[in-house]
Amino acid sequence: MNYRHVYHAGNFADVIKHVTLSLVIEYLKRKASPFRVIDTHAGIGQYDLNSEAAGKTGEWREGIGRLWGQDLPDGIKELLAPYFTSIRSVNGDGELRCYPGSPLVARGLMRAQDSLVVNELHPEDYAALVRILRGDMRVKILNIDGWIALRSLLPPKERRGVILIDPPFEVAGELDRLVSGLKDGLRRFATGTYLLWYPIKGLPAVETMKQRVAQLGIDKLLCAELFVHRPGDEQRLNGSGLLIINPPYFLDAHLGKILPFLAERLAQSREARSHLTWLAGSSN
Ligand SMILES: C[S@@+](CC[C@H](N)C(=O)[O-])C[C@H]1O[C@@H](n2cnc3c(N)ncnc32)[C@H](O)[C@@H]1O
Repeated sequence: MNYRHVYHAGNFADVIKHVTLSLVIEYLKRKASPFRVIDTHAGIGQYDLNSEAAGKTGEWREGIGRLWGQDLPDGIKELLAPYFTSIRSVNGDGELRCYPGSPLVARGLMRAQDSLVVNELHPEDYAALVRILRGDMRVKILNIDGWIALRSLLPPKERRGVILIDPPFEVAGELDRLVSGLKDGLRRFATGTYLLWYPIKGLPAVETMKQRVAQLGIDKLLCAELFVHRPGDEQRLNGSGLLIINPPYFLDAHLGKILPFLAERLAQSREARSHLTWLAGSSN
């Protein structure tokens, strides 16, 4: 396990992932009944942007660094407000020193009646997560393989919730495990909202993945992609995508505003752009 998220925390890919997660949680909060957030590949929860590792890549400067403390257009400001709430929960209103990973984005937004299960396999990262989250009775922290976690945690007893699946895609066979994990997860919890994050280097691998997930017979499958470069150079992260199964009503309309804004604001080349596509079903 070589992947360490601290090198990438707060980059453009984290921005679109965490903005979407925060919006889904806000939609779930429209009903008083409790929900559960399940984070199968959680990372360490909180990232020091002044650390040597974060400074080495400086990726956050081209991500959250281009949004925090900057003017945002009306209409976008409101949609990014929950995401900013979670960032504020680890920094206050001042200087951006710390970036919340998905566990803290979720915990910063959930209510007393909601619960969060986070899972991280790397022993050191798991220990860091425990230090940050222990003592919160709404949170359960696991240290098992994310694909096993996915199977064993579904369905949640609340029968409402969102599952974030955010693997590092560093080992061979991850796509097969992803497709079979999703298939099994959907059999156990067909009505959940699933957010599956993926990196975009070249397009062929991504198209194969999208086709294989679409073939699972999902009724509603939305695909949101943000490109900061033209895809092609396989050595570089050119974009990132989210497959969203059972997106809440309004999410496509809201992402339809946010994605073009982020493509412009977070562009790293003239080829930056975004796509929002229904791979199955539609918002109606
Ligand atoms: C992309 S990072 C997670 C970032 C986090 N979800 C966020 O948005 O802040 C992927 C994480 O998965 C962990 N990981 C790698 N293989 C795993 C596995 N088989 N099961 C669970 N976690 C794993 C890595 O240690 C890493 O922390």
